[in-house]
Parts: sequence; C-alpha cells; structure tokens
Amino acid sequence: MLSKLLTPKAQKMESSLVRELLHYSQQPDILSLAGGLPDEKYMPSYPAIEALEVSQQYGPSEGEGRLRHQIAEIVKERGVAVEDNQVLVTNGSQQALDLVSRIVLDENSIILTEQPTYLAAIQVFELQGAQIKDVRSDEFGLVPDALRRAIEEYQPKAVYLIPNFQNPAGHCYSKRRRVEIAALLDEKGVLLIEDDPYFDLCYEDVDRTPITHYLETAPWVYMGSFSKVLWPGMRTGYVVSCEALVPYLVKIKQAADLHTNRLGQLMISEYLVSGAYPEHIKKLRRVYAQKRDAMARAIDVNLSGLVSYSLPAGGMFFWVKLPSGVFSDRVLRQALERKVLVLPGLPFFANASELSDGYLRLSFARVSEEDVSNAISILADVIKEIMDESL
Ligand SMILES: Cc1ncc(COP(=O)(O)O)c(C=O)c1O
Repeated sequence: MLSKLLTPKAQKMESSLVRELLHYSQQPDILSLAGGLPDEKYMPSYPAIEALEVSQQYGPSEGEGRLRHQIAEIVKERGVAVEDNQVLVTNGSQQALDLVSRIVLDENSIILTEQPTYLAAIQVFELQGAQIKDVRSDEFGLVPDALRRAIEEYQPKAVYLIPNFQNPAGHCYSKRRRVEIAALLDEKGVLLIEDDPYFDLCYEDVDRTPITHYLETAPWVYMGSFSKVLWPGMRTGYVVSCEALVPYLVKIKQAADLHTNRLGQLMISEYLVSGAYPEHIKKLRRVYAQKRDAMARAIDVNLSGLVSYSLPAGGMFFWVKLPSGVFSDRVLRQALERKVLVLPGLPFFANASELSDGYLRLSFARVSEEDVSNAISILADVIKEIMDESL
C-alpha cells in the first residue's frame, strides 16, 4: 500500500543516524561523545520579555525586524556586507539548508561538498533528488585543485562548505584557501552555500573570514545559527543571501511554514540587546577549550600511536582516524555495550570511499572533563580488543 502512497523520494529517505542515537545519549548511565549538542550548563536563562503578547500573533515571513537588523550587524562584523532585507530568519540553520536546496536543487542537479560533510546536509540534498559529489579535503578543508577538476567535470549547481571548525572533521580553512576558492567560484559562476554555525566557538587565533566575503560575482548564501551558542531548542537560525536570491527564499519560506516562531526570535533578540552576549561567548570559549584540551590529553594518554587526529581550533568535534582494519560501526557497537556512545564516521561520507569506515566523530562539548577521560579510556580498551581479535 505504501509503495503506491509514498513518493519515490519519500520511500528512499533515510533517517539520520545522529537523531537515532540521540535517545541512547539521553539515558543517564550512558557517556555520550556522539551528539553535536551544546552543554546546557552554560546556556543563559531566558530574558524577561516585556511585550510578550506580540509573539501571540502571526508575524512577518522574513522574521522579526529587530532580529534581522541584529543578524545583519553580526554577519557584517564577520565580513559579509548585507542590508537587513537580505536576512531571512529560519527555524534553525537546518531549515535554511532545506529552503536553499528547494530553490536550487532537483533531480538534474549536482552539488559538491567537502569529504566528509555534515550528514544532515546530505539528507537534505538527497531529498531534493540531487546527486552529491564529495571533493577531496584535508586539514585545511577542500582542496582547490580538486574543486576545479570537479567543477569542470560535473558542472555543479552549487558548492556546500563549512569552512569554520567543520562538522565532522573540525578543519578550519587557511586564508589562502578561502581566497583561492572564492576566486574559483567567481571564475566559474558557481553558487556558494556557506554554513557557519560554529563561528563563535573559536579557541585559537585563526582566520574565520567567511569565503562569501571574498566573492565578487558568484551567487551566494551564508547561513548561521544561535543553536550552538544559545538555545538549540529555540530553533532559530538564519540565511543571508545575494540580492537576486532574496525573493525566492522569502517565497519558499512562506510556503514552508509562513514564518519562524516569534517567541524564539524575541528571546534571542532581547538577549542580544541585553549586552551580555560578548561575555557569554568569552565564557563558552574558555570552557569548551578546556574540554577540548581534556579530550586531546585523554586520547594522547590512552590511544597514542593507534589513532590520529588534528587538534580542532574551534567547534565541538575531534575527527579520529582509527587503526587500519578497525571499523567504526564495530567500535560503536562494542563501546555501547560498555555504555560509551560514539558516532561512526560513515554517515558523513556522501559517496562510498575507502576512507569512510575508518573514522569516529567525538564531541567534547557536553561531557565533563572526568567523563571524557573515562569514556576515552573505555574506547581505547574497545579499540585494542578489536585489534587483538583481528590478529
Ligand atoms: C554544519 C551544521 N549545519 C547546520 C546545523 C544545524 O543547526 P541548527 O538547525 O540547530 O541551527 C548543524 C548542527 O549540528 C551543523 O553542524
């Protein structure tokens, strides 16, 4: 019956492994390094909102005027020059990804991504029926020569990039890469979809200037989020875009859900007005940097010589290369038996590759330093056991 009822796209839809594993991570006896969840201990309390009743009525599709202005100021400071009318407030940056995909991708489209890339972006692009081609990436992000070859071979509609503290690989592009990639996209006229939810979670003095800043002629969208720095449950993010795309994004937003919920927008806007945000970000950077360092120490102590990683300069994730012959799904299952939850690298690869089974994504954001140390020590036992068994 369902095969007649559901569209072929709906039938092919796969659910996100992260969302499926989330219910384990909420069990109290599980030590979870799996989700990309911020630590609720450091979420500020909600501000008191005087004109609360405003949020009871329908609002504008583009978003609350004051919040749009604040977002324009935030992205201008990062180097993306926009007017308020280029800002669309969305239900998290996940919705921004969906809306952009709906206006540019269909069954005849190819989109290029980093290898690996954010798994829920893969879900969205595939839902549009687009083909994803992932492009060779290293610790500085996507490799420009490989990008040039891929653009020439596939004539893609768009390139999707997460240049700052990528999910999952943690990389941060060098300035040179940013400039080179922007010049290439200008030359080829390919749309840049730049996703930057981790911009503020920065622990080293690295260049974070959006690639969008360097574009001169190519079309672009740049998306951000308040999820990783304030309250993800508010589901408030944004997309800013070049002028030409603005009316299309607004129309698709109208069709999708009329507008983002007003209460969340007002809360965030009020918090930004309060002036507490810069101090809050400083605190987040301090505590997350400590957690990151604790994870690095635990890996170095327990897994030295077995796994490799690059220390992420920001964000929430270590991307850990497993010893050869140790596969990530087996590590997931055996670690879970010992109440440690990790995320295998596999779902972050859009195309099958010899690399895809050999990584774990480990998040340090929501665990205490003590729990990180315990979890990594258990993980090390599991990895060593698997190695011994395969001898
Ligand atoms: C790269 C990236 N983009 C988008 C999102 C979606 O964030 P949200 O919809 O909560 O703003 C995430 C969340 O993990 C992410 O890592």
